[in-house]
Amino acid sequence: MISQVAVVGSGYMGGGIAQVVALSGRRVVLADVTAEIAKGNRERIILEAEDFARRGLFPADAAERVAANVSAAPSIEEACADADLIEEAVPEVIAIKHDTLRRISGAARADALIGSNTSTISIGTLAEAVTAPERFLGIHFSNPATFIPGVEVIPHAGTDPEVVPRVVELLRECGKVGVPVTDVTGFVLNRLQYALFGEAARLVEEGVASAEAVDLIARTTFGFRLPFFGPFAIADIAGLDVYEFCYASLQEGYPDRFAPPAALTERVARGDKGVKSGRGFLSTTPESIPEVVAYRDEAYAAMTALLTKLGDAPVQY
Ligand SMILES: NC(=O)c1ccc[n+]([C@@H]2O[C@H](COP(=O)([O-])OP(=O)(O)OC[C@H]3O[C@@H](n4cnc5c(N)ncnc54)[C@H](O)[C@@H]3O)[C@@H](O)[C@H]2O)c1
Repeated sequence: MISQVAVVGSGYMGGGIAQVVALSGRRVVLADVTAEIAKGNRERIILEAEDFARRGLFPADAAERVAANVSAAPSIEEACADADLIEEAVPEVIAIKHDTLRRISGAARADALIGSNTSTISIGTLAEAVTAPERFLGIHFSNPATFIPGVEVIPHAGTDPEVVPRVVELLRECGKVGVPVTDVTGFVLNRLQYALFGEAARLVEEGVASAEAVDLIARTTFGFRLPFFGPFAIADIAGLDVYEFCYASLQEGYPDRFAPPAALTERVARGDKGVKSGRGFLSTTPESIPEVVAYRDEAYAAMTALLTKLGDAPVQY
């Protein structure tokens, strides 16, 4: 049972993680470089919770709950001593992470779990600084941790497999969706995000479209689907054979980076073309098409209504 969590590094991400865990009813102890910084960040997240509650984004009593459940420790060692889980959220600098993880390992109970919020550093590399590294894994929240549901859960090669479902369950109880992924550079989120960004930047560099036009197309076309259907569901619904045709022309235009993936061509070759054939990357059957289409239409109409209500993001090009 994870009932007390220490967050080491109480900055932007650490503060958000602390709010989320505190609102689930668990005790959270913050630690930072000094007791004063941890104390200041505790006060900051209480005020922020108050503001979120006033704007209807957090429950009405959120600030009281954060204040009651979050404390600031005088040191990393004191924060870790009684914790069932310690989440490290110090800056993305390997020397700082290693030093902090060494201190956490030295102070944590033998049965405590240790997580890192690293965005890019391999968990295996960070594990080198952890004593008993079988209790260590990546727990990668997205910015802002308070509102983004998905969290990458990243065991390294030596993580005890039983740790993963415990962390996923904790995240579920905190209203998050923990998704286990393998420990590779960039994990899943950043490999996808940076692949998209790379192509977007090339389009602007080549003068094909302005940054504003790229963002507008991303948001109003394929990006509009993404809250409901991931890339594989979208491909299965479109038809994997259709994807293969599209790849053929993309490959002609950009042979260096648009070869069709083997996972696609192999499926098409054996007749697994997606929803229309009952199997693709998913196993959605043709019989379920009306249900999928009904869901899709409702989701997209609701999304249009939400976007109309909120208006465009106040960013300037
Ligand atoms: N900001 C993001 O968008 C984002 C998203 C996902 C993951 N992350 C990851 O989360 C981690 C933290 O990022 P952040 O944006 O919250 O940074 P931040 O600078 O806001 O917070 C870092 C905190 O760590 C403290 N700190 C520095 N050295 C320390 C030490 N030796 N011991 C204890 N505390 C120390 C700092 O005082 C600060 O409070 C990084 O690994 C980052 O890559 C960030």
